[in-house]
Amino acid sequence: MPTPISKDGRKKFFTNDIMLWNQQGNKRIMPWKGEKDPYKIWISEIILQQTRVAQGLLYYHNFITQFPTLKTLAEAEDNAVFKMWEGLGYYSRCKNILITARHISNNLHGRFPDTYDEILGLKGIGPYTAAAISSFAYGLPHAVVDGNVFRVLARYFGETLAIDSEKGKLYFTGLANEVLYKSDAASYNQAIMDFGATICKPQIAECQECILQKNCSAYKNGLVNKLPIKEKKLQKSRRWFYYFIFLCNNSVLINKRKEKDIWQNLHEFYLYEYEKPIDWTHDAINRWLKEQLGIKKYRLLQLSEKFHQQLTHQLLQGQFIVIDLKVIPVSLKHLECIKVLDLELLAFPKLINNYLQAYPLKRQKNELITKK
Ligand code: ADE
Repeated sequence: MPTPISKDGRKKFFTNDIMLWNQQGNKRIMPWKGEKDPYKIWISEIILQQTRVAQGLLYYHNFITQFPTLKTLAEAEDNAVFKMWEGLGYYSRCKNILITARHISNNLHGRFPDTYDEILGLKGIGPYTAAAISSFAYGLPHAVVDGNVFRVLARYFGETLAIDSEKGKLYFTGLANEVLYKSDAASYNQAIMDFGATICKPQIAECQECILQKNCSAYKNGLVNKLPIKEKKLQKSRRWFYYFIFLCNNSVLINKRKEKDIWQNLHEFYLYEYEKPIDWTHDAINRWLKEQLGIKKYRLLQLSEKFHQQLTHQLLQGQFIVIDLKVIPVSLKHLECIKVLDLELLAFPKLINNYLQAYPLKRQKNELITKK
């Protein structure tokens, strides 16, 4: 009978085997791998925070092509950067990128900070991104720690502490830094990210081709699909968005979202959000326009089907009601009036872009469109 390995022994095996897998088994090719420019690493990591690699690749390429240096980004117009980000979601990332680029440009002589603590102090950069930038750009020994890393560690070490509990987070963060290969933190961090994404995957782990299998506690004990443990189930809320598209001659009324909510800084049509679904009959639209906005004369051009978008914590439903007006009433004077042709210059949430793709507004001015 082979003697069971100690926990410390297992930690050494883990580090060695992750590095070995990186050399022999890691087939992932990505444009930011081996990159040393902290600006480019930063952009790639922010894009990848809430975006799948496959989708992030194209955005990364376009972003770096349009804003190749921190200086070009710091000097860019807000709207050009938001337009670039359109479709990626989680727009606070984009807002923070701009704030940070301008801060570095104006207050730090344009030089990206080169210590973990300074990088962590930048707006929009948390411990994961600070560890990624400081290890990839400067070789500093800080382990990246996220859900992927927690999963890999929980399985390999057979750890049943909940990864979303305070105790669990502390434990796994400590463990991640213990098993970090400190003399080449850049390769190790990239390796564990790639290993979590391609081998030790959340639903279907590729245990048969995993070279860490022989010392993996979860594999030995049939717990791969049970680990990691989570304490809380995600609560999803539902929201109903009704967009009134008010057209007037060749213009349309637009609002820029400013509230602390999803889609801050993106544009939208006049929004009526309600706490439950509404059945918009022609009669209901008529009453609503009169009572809420004082509009009596209008032409209803379209009542769209329902569009959906799933965010991490919210399930959204949107419906679009196109209204042609002869004059803009006082109740809508606070909105921006822009040419329909200029709509494509503004950044909109995906829900609205999906609608605009199905029903380009140019066609709607003179026609009642009820099908695609
Ligand atoms: N996810 C976050 N950062 C990543 C990176 N550098 N490579 C692959 N996936 C990632």
